[in-house]
Amino acid sequence: MNLAFLASHRGSNMQSIIDACKSGALAANPVVVISNNADSGALSRAREEGIPAHHLSSLAIPDEDELDKRITDTLLECNTDLVVLAGYMKRIGKRTLAAFPGKIINIHPCLLPKYGGQGMYGMRVHEAVIASGDKESGVTIHVVNAEYDKGAILAQQKVLVKEGDSAESLAERVLAVEHSLYTETIAKIVSGEIALPGAEK
Ligand code: GRF
Repeated sequence: MNLAFLASHRGSNMQSIIDACKSGALAANPVVVISNNADSGALSRAREEGIPAHHLSSLAIPDEDELDKRITDTLLECNTDLVVLAGYMKRIGKRTLAAFPGKIINIHPCLLPKYGGQGMYGMRVHEAVIASGDKESGVTIHVVNAEYDKGAILAQQKVLVKEGDSAESLAERVLAVEHSLYTETIAKIVSGEIALPGAEK
C-alpha cells in the first residue's frame, strides 16, 4: 500500500509511520509528502528519508481550485493508495476528496466527537480537556470528509488525565499513544482487518 502524507508542522506522527515501514513492522511504502508550510519539520524529514517532498500552498498557488488540483495530481502521480493526514492544518479540497473516496485518514489528539471541529487543534484541544475537568482524553483516527473531524471513526484509545496534568503534560502522553495507534491502525487497514467505509476497492 502506497502512503502519501499531508503535514503542516513537526511531522512526528509521519516519522513514526515511516520508521515502521522501514523496519518492516508496517507493510506499506511512503511515496510522497506534501506540506503547505515550506519550513515544516515534515518536509525536512521527507528529504532526509529520500521521499519526494512538495511544498504546495495558497501562497504560491492562490487559486483554491488550482491548488486542490495540484495536490490531487501529485497524489495520483505517486500512485497513492491511502492519504495520511498528520497534523495537516488545511481543509481537504473537493477534488482530492473525490479522487480518494474513503481513502483519506486523520489523527486527532482526543476522543472525538468531543473537542473537534474548526479551530480545535494542537494545544487548544488539550487546554479544553484540562479546563473541562474530564478524567480521560485520548486519540482518534478517522476517515476524512468535507467537515472537520466528522468522518467515520476507525480507532480510538483512551489516555487518562492525571491529577495536576497541564495541557503540555497531557499532550506528551497523548502523542506517545498517537504514534503507536496511527501505525497500528494503518497496519489493520493494510491487512483488511479495518475496512474503510466508502472506499472503493
Ligand atoms: C498531533 O497531535 C495530531 O493529533 C494533530 O496534530 C499533531 C501533529 O503532530 N492532528 P506531528 O506533526 O505529527 O508531530
